[in-house]
Amino acid sequence: MRIANRWRTHHCAQLRKEDVGRIVRLCGWVDRRRDHGGLAFVDLRDREGICQIVFRPEEHPEAAAIGKALHAEDLVQVEGEVARRPSGTENASLATGEIEVVAHWVRPLSFCSPLPFPLDADVENEELRLSFRFLDLRRRRMQENLRIRHQTVKSAREYLDAQGFLEVETPILSKSTPEGARDFLVPSRLTPGSFYALPQAPQQYKQLLMVGGIERYYQIARCFRDEDLRADRQPEFTQIDLEASFVDPEDIQFWVEGLLQKIFLDVLDVDLPLPFPAMSYREAMDRYGSDKPDLRYGFDLRDVGEIFRESDLHVFRTVLDGGGVVKAVNGKGLANIGSSELAALEELARSLGAKGLAYVRVESSGWKSPIAKFLTAGQRDALVRALEVAEGDLLLFAADRWELACEILGRIRGRLAELSGGRRGHSEWKFLWVKDFPLLTFDREAGRWTSVHHPFTRPQAEDIPLLEEGHFGEVRALAYDIVLNGMELGGGSIRIHEADLQQKIFSVLGIDPETQEERFGHLLRAFRYGAPPHGGVALGLDRLVMLLAGAESIRDVIAFPKNRHGVDPLTGSPSAVEPKQLRELRITVGKGSA
Ligand code: AMO
Ligand code: AMP
Repeated sequence: MRIANRWRTHHCAQLRKEDVGRIVRLCGWVDRRRDHGGLAFVDLRDREGICQIVFRPEEHPEAAAIGKALHAEDLVQVEGEVARRPSGTENASLATGEIEVVAHWVRPLSFCSPLPFPLDADVENEELRLSFRFLDLRRRRMQENLRIRHQTVKSAREYLDAQGFLEVETPILSKSTPEGARDFLVPSRLTPGSFYALPQAPQQYKQLLMVGGIERYYQIARCFRDEDLRADRQPEFTQIDLEASFVDPEDIQFWVEGLLQKIFLDVLDVDLPLPFPAMSYREAMDRYGSDKPDLRYGFDLRDVGEIFRESDLHVFRTVLDGGGVVKAVNGKGLANIGSSELAALEELARSLGAKGLAYVRVESSGWKSPIAKFLTAGQRDALVRALEVAEGDLLLFAADRWELACEILGRIRGRLAELSGGRRGHSEWKFLWVKDFPLLTFDREAGRWTSVHHPFTRPQAEDIPLLEEGHFGEVRALAYDIVLNGMELGGGSIRIHEADLQQKIFSVLGIDPETQEERFGHLLRAFRYGAPPHGGVALGLDRLVMLLAGAESIRDVIAFPKNRHGVDPLTGSPSAVEPKQLRELRITVGKGSA
């Protein structure tokens, strides 16, 4: 790596005791300044690390005068001689801790205004951090995060290159492709009244690349989705996106596992055992109440419907008679949680649509529960066996239609893990493939069928008759998600490559032939020109880096993220534009909200 030039001879973390006696030149920010018995000490910091500079007024009065006046984050160029630190003053925690540079010449390159927040401590106020992101990025944590991000992408490129994938860029000014979010639109000046859509994913382009004979494609792809933001969601994010021809799910899974194994080895020096375990969507929901279960802790869900089939407990009985289920989770050792915590659990359940959350506190004096009086001795025994009940446990029940009951207890399960203190384990890596997703789900609000992944996902061959017979909800997709520690890291599928099957799916989704042609004509056409069978996957790069870095939010692994309101507090984007720009685009902006 070339460092030495007119500005500096070394970077700040480079010097060792072997360099003693050398005249060196460094550039860096003042990390800290301390005065000691007439001497001024400055910890000079650049990207690589820290070097101690000492200013001695007796020997170099001019340099010392400048050194004494320096403040945190002033930027200086220093020339001096490398010297051994006096014995007893070495700093073992610094790579350069055995030496210091005796400054004989110093030149301020620029001065720093008073800092809006300290750079060497945690800062709660994220808005302030984002407003001064250029300072925030100087913090060690952020520097480390961006380095991890760089290493991750580098590893991915090396792996995919070795596996024969070509990196191809696809358009940002593109056409709407549905991934379940709202599009960001860009008005076209040259075609007034028309809009580009920013890609929610390069999905259709990568499929067209397969028709184009590229065979193996990848891209570190920027995606844009106008949706509600959360800690793990940004309107603009990055995928490690890939697609290949002549493949089965096992091939894609092989590559994803190899890719993640290499990344974890390169970035964290962790050797992941392969292959990752796999589970069907049905089992994931049944046992963990989630399609992205966190396997770092237990609290799995059990079906206890049989126990209540003949029971006097009306709330359960009516649900069972109506074709629903009763599921339970054993909050091991949590019988003593406070009533406000229990109320919060019930509130959580209700917020998801539960009609209640029956509970039993298993105490030495007996079962404390609003439903205790309805339970026969036989039912209690059966519950003890089914839920492996012991004294001190907290049993929680959801009676509802299967999917909702699973979902409710799945969320409760996460809270139980938090309450029992066993949830966080940043160095534990529980990967899981979730497969056999349903292809379609009925959107109750919209009153129509929608894709669980996206409309290009291939139905499983043996379920195609179900599609023909109109049993849409039972058709399984040739799709797979990769889950890490309860987070959906990526998802993919084998695709439809036949125009007639694709049209069939579009019509099930309620897209009429005219709209199909208008929105997806290019794809349908491509499928009539020798389209190869193909499939792929996309991993959320930001989420992956967040987990690798142990960060709490993907905002901490993105150089310039948006805040929770989709705003960049640094630049103030989005912002108003010149009336002239709007006129050119023939756009008039109305007053008030939409
Ligand atoms: P999907 O929509 O599942 O699949 O996205 C793949 C992965 O991208 C990440 N991700 C996000 N990360 C940050 N902010 C967001 N708003 C956001 N949305 C998604 C997630 C997710 O698992 N074209 C398909 C892939 C394919 O079929 O090959 C797709 O985009 O980690
Ligand atoms: P109730 O008879 O309505 O007072 O309900 C008795 C207990 O069952 C209360 O603790 C409710 O929260 C709970 N409960 C009611 N409906 C359900 C349901 N569908 N699933 C789980 N618990 C329920």
